Amino acid sequence: MRIAVIGGGRMGTGLGGAFARAGHDVHVGSRDGARAEAKAREIGAAGSGSYAEVAQAADAILLTVPWWAVSETLALLGDVDRKILIDVTNPYKDETYAEQHVWPGSSGAEKIRDQTGAQVVKAWNHVFSRVVSETTFDGAAPTVFIAADDAVSKEAVASLARETGYDPVDAGPLAAARYLEPLAGLMVTMAYGVGLGPQIALKLLRR
Ligand SMILES: NC(=O)c1ccc[n+]([C@@H]2O[C@H](COP(=O)([O-])OP(=O)(O)OC[C@H]3O[C@@H](n4cnc5c(N)ncnc54)[C@H](OP(=O)(O)O)[C@@H]3O)[C@@H](O)[C@H]2O)c1
Repeated sequence: MRIAVIGGGRMGTGLGGAFARAGHDVHVGSRDGARAEAKAREIGAAGSGSYAEVAQAADAILLTVPWWAVSETLALLGDVDRKILIDVTNPYKDETYAEQHVWPGSSGAEKIRDQTGAQVVKAWNHVFSRVVSETTFDGAAPTVFIAADDAVSKEAVASLARETGYDPVDAGPLAAARYLEPLAGLMVTMAYGVGLGPQIALKLLRR
């Protein structure tokens, strides 16, 4: 699959690198051409470009920018109507990462869908970037909850998750992002408030 990574930060390079190692055609997009090239080289991606260049050529877009940059970033992508857009963002209000926006009857993911018309798939938003870079926990695969309305897009992302060492779990329609976004807040509280650190992940048990 041709995947555009939007934002060359921790989540973009971590997940983008994992997709590249799994054999996908990954292209890194950055606001800065030289940074895009350097990040692409670092993670073994096939290419790089501006946000618009990589997004327009992609089958799937991995959105990995901070919430406060989401709306302006989406506006730079061009027409992404009906494309798969993997949303790992959490709607933190600012750089302190202290508080998320809460919208009654909506979520960050639904706002991204409304702005773009893309097939938005919420995934990996509750997985720390340290875990994204190294998924193994004594042989157990971390759960990645996946919320989306379009079954084909959801399965494509579940397949990416399986190929990169996760246990994908169908968390329901995109509206379930209303629960997945606060779940990331719980992970951050446990990691940095309680002191467990960012080498923790969730595992759904089934029987
Ligand atoms: N870090 C985690 O453990 C983690 C876990 C789950 C979810 N998330 C979510 O994933 C998203 C990315 O997190 P991250 O930790 O990867 O962030 P990061 O390391 O700060 O990288 C974010 C990237 O976004 C791009 N960007 C575009 N506009 C920006 C702006 N106005 N200010 C800053 N960066 C901007 C930058 O890439 P270019 O300069 O290359 O364009 C930057 O490298 C966030 O929404 C976060 O809530 C993070």
